[in-house]
Amino acid sequence: MQVHSIHQETPDVWTISLICHDFYRYHPGQYALVSIRDSEETLRAYTLSSSPGQSKFITISVRCLPDGEGSRWLTQEVHPGQQLWLSDAQGEFTCANAPADRYLMLAAGCGVTPIMSMTRWLLANRPEVHVQVIFNVRTPRDVIFANEWRDLDASYSQLKLTLMAESDASPEFLTGRITRETLEQICPDIASRTVMTCGPAPYMKAVKQLALDLGVPAQNFYQEQFQVVADNDADGATLKLTTNTPLHTYHAPVGATLLFAMEQNKLPIQAACRAGVCGCCKTRILSGDYTTSSTMTLTPDEIAQGYVLACSCQLNSDVVIA
Ligand code: FES
Repeated sequence: MQVHSIHQETPDVWTISLICHDFYRYHPGQYALVSIRDSEETLRAYTLSSSPGQSKFITISVRCLPDGEGSRWLTQEVHPGQQLWLSDAQGEFTCANAPADRYLMLAAGCGVTPIMSMTRWLLANRPEVHVQVIFNVRTPRDVIFANEWRDLDASYSQLKLTLMAESDASPEFLTGRITRETLEQICPDIASRTVMTCGPAPYMKAVKQLALDLGVPAQNFYQEQFQVVADNDADGATLKLTTNTPLHTYHAPVGATLLFAMEQNKLPIQAACRAGVCGCCKTRILSGDYTTSSTMTLTPDEIAQGYVLACSCQLNSDVVIA
């Protein structure tokens, strides 16, 4: 695809608009792998923030992370006219897999990209559907797609939008982080809604618990998985990552993926797709509490021995790896 333009959304997020000369099939909320510097070895997963049939361009919206090779290249070096390679669209986090007539979309930080893609699509294509969106940001300056959210809110009566800022909240924002009281107050019918969420791992873990506590059936709760790799909104809690040979202890944020933790500590690991597909980040965990979102390339024996795909393994406690 050819880069048409690059638009700065917030101080650290840019949207890259791409011209696709062929038909590109995707569902709202899905992501694509992007080749960084045209390297087959360096692929990064980004949500398609555009909506099929709605958007003039295919877009990805990328937060520039200080140590992020892919995000720095895409946001600081790529220029209009340049060609980018994108994979076919993939991922299960899409409203196409979660049909409902009432949604609650919960987003935090850069996790708003699939939420915008799905909300835009639902409002235009499913006028009978009610969509409630609660978008959490650090400050009002961090609202990605601020103008479009305002326009959608003004144009569609079946959208209810709530913006929440942790600090510097202006009058149109609620202040603070999402709580049980907030949810009960602004979404009293949450139990009858299909809930979809995307954001940093600690955020998604917290809102999942809140949603389940407020009566949302587990089968009506959906969350994106891979964003935890890229988002740096973690809440500051850390865990110990110990390597067995040689014996050495490192630190990583609770809720980070094993891949993020290893890369952050400069431990050797291969990663291509970063989405639990290629299998090249296979690593063995000897002890600790973790959850996995993909074991696609692993055998039952390997899983029983503690092998995980590091990109798809979220760390919940101190862990020891082989
Ligand atoms: S990097 Fe491909 S499965 Fe983890």
